[in-house]
Amino acid sequence: MLTVEALNKIYKTGDKALSDVTFTVPKGQVVGLIGPSGAGKSTLIRCINRLVEPTSGVVKLNDQNITGLSNTALRRVRRRIGMIFQEYALVERLTVMENVLSGRLGYVPFWRSFTRRFPGEDIAKAFRLLDRVGLSAHADKRADALSGGQRQRVGIARALEQDPELLLIDEPTASLDPKTSRQIMRLLVEICNESGLPAIINIHDVVLAQQFTDRIIGLQAGKIVFDGKPSELTEQVLTQIYGEEDWTAMRKGAAEDVAEENAAAAEAKRLVAAL
Ligand SMILES: Nc1ncnc2c1ncn2[C@@H]1O[C@H](COP(=O)(O)OP(=O)(O)OP(=O)(O)O)[C@@H](O)[C@H]1O
Ligand SMILES: [Mg+2]
Repeated sequence: MLTVEALNKIYKTGDKALSDVTFTVPKGQVVGLIGPSGAGKSTLIRCINRLVEPTSGVVKLNDQNITGLSNTALRRVRRRIGMIFQEYALVERLTVMENVLSGRLGYVPFWRSFTRRFPGEDIAKAFRLLDRVGLSAHADKRADALSGGQRQRVGIARALEQDPELLLIDEPTASLDPKTSRQIMRLLVEICNESGLPAIINIHDVVLAQQFTDRIIGLQAGKIVFDGKPSELTEQVLTQIYGEEDWTAMRKGAAEDVAEENAAAAEAKRLVAAL
């Protein structure tokens, strides 16, 4: 379980990025973190793994207080937090398998990681995870030979190889097409639900967040203005979070994506029927 209590962040510039943010995420729950640009989403994620130092407040992972830990203890805690990024952050010239195994680097002794000799159980686990994310046939491919969706799957497997107790996911679908985005979101939520991992997904696409996550937290100017079930996220709340103009534009964009996909599917059917 993740606990965030009265978290505040004021940057040196005087920007108040987080204001009294409080919530808990139980095991297996996937939270979609939404809000307009500058609302504090990235700051919140970074305060949780302390890439950014909170000004005040407490972050606890399974009852261990993360705020206030010294460097060595912090490194140990960070191993327990899996990060998945928009830009995948894979090592291009390494294989899929090697990228997944790099999730163990926080655990294996330095000389072992240097020679890339990992214990058998780590390798077996990597194979299981590649199978889970649908990439077992691609284990030996170089990362730079994969599609965007496949790369994101490798990123997910790598984070899981780390045996995390929490997943922090920053814009996992920002570089993907609508269909692949939905597949990745579905996979993430299934994995978290089945393995009891709590997760926070920072996501721009509200429709996608509503469709797949278990709970939504809406940030605006550093404050939580909504915390509830995706179904409770009404037009009114969304207009409050994003403002009339932005929300209308976002909804229109999503509708166009779906219409485009439906048209493509209908066209494919027609082509097949004509054969
Ligand atoms: N390193 C920094 N120094 C000073 N101010 C910062 C820094 N990082 C972020 N901020 C400010 O803190 C506020 C929140 O920024 P943050 O990046 O957390 O927003 P966000 O919700 O992730 O936005 P986006 O959707 O554009 O990624 C903004 O006002 C931003 O200008
Ligand atoms: Mg951000």
